[in-house]
Amino acid sequence: MARFIAEMPKAEFHVHLEGTLEAEMKFALARRNGLTLPYADVAAMRRSYVYHDLPSFLAIYYDGMKVLLQEEDFYDLAHAYLAKAASQNILYAEMFFDPQEHLKRGVPMEAVIGGITRARADAEKQFGIQSQLILCFVRDLSAESAMAALDAALPMKQHLVGVGLDSDEKGNPPAKFAAHFAKARAAGLKVTAHCDVNQENTLDHIRQAIVDLKVDRIDHGGNILQSPELIALAKRRDLFFTVCPTFSGRVKSEGQPIDVVRGMLDQGLNVTINSDDPAYMGSEYLNEVLVRAQAQSALTQQELVRIERNAFNAAWISEERRKHFL
Ligand code: HPA
Ligand code: ZN
Repeated sequence: MARFIAEMPKAEFHVHLEGTLEAEMKFALARRNGLTLPYADVAAMRRSYVYHDLPSFLAIYYDGMKVLLQEEDFYDLAHAYLAKAASQNILYAEMFFDPQEHLKRGVPMEAVIGGITRARADAEKQFGIQSQLILCFVRDLSAESAMAALDAALPMKQHLVGVGLDSDEKGNPPAKFAAHFAKARAAGLKVTAHCDVNQENTLDHIRQAIVDLKVDRIDHGGNILQSPELIALAKRRDLFFTVCPTFSGRVKSEGQPIDVVRGMLDQGLNVTINSDDPAYMGSEYLNEVLVRAQAQSALTQQELVRIERNAFNAAWISEERRKHFL
């Protein structure tokens, strides 16, 4: 089965570039940028990656990305992910990035998008992997900060395919960003939003993402399995779900926990499987995540093929390009 998974042509839609920043690269970038990190070595840094929920994860993730300062840092980050992805037979990837965090440190938007874009072009030439970029709003920062990031990015919108919404959901419902999403859609960008599992007002957030933000996809979204009405709405809109089983594979419920991938398959929802933040999740990239998901959700080979077909159908590409992949 592991060989079948490794050899299967794959696509990935839910991966945060800053979440692919491996400990080795963090040390290398810190050295290059004259920063000192409070860890003796790579092993000690990895041992500090201990979290038990979304906020405790995010604290580690945001702290880690402080070494990203120059255009070439973003180049190296994106290039390393794309090389790894290509080595796992991922043919196409759409990658999130969190520019507000970099703008806060004084890094210009041009350096962030410029470095990533250069890496995408080189990786396509070197490894054949195609990719696009999704700007995420950091929902626990202010609405003004998100709008400033969007305005800074729109002049470079030819390098973006869409916008997303990530970070801490508590007190930060999708509706807070309705104006941002409307502006992004008016600029021709696609839209998606995180509705992580088991968060505050989680079903309300899924509804707002669909109705107020008019998303094309939902990132995670496992709690939808608790609402037949929202399942019907998602099917009417033909929405795709980018599930990351490492972090959000199970929904808490009163009886048994619900397995998200199995539940979505059984409900006929368009489920895809993704790695999220592999550098912080045991360095498990898509192949390893799929191996784990196969066992956890008892997936057959036919179901794995269906999941990867869903993935290529979820891609924000022209129908011409899609035909080429399918
Ligand atoms: N959820 C929310 N925000 C994030 C995540 C995630 O899984 N990864 C990086 N930012
Ligand atoms: Zn995510």
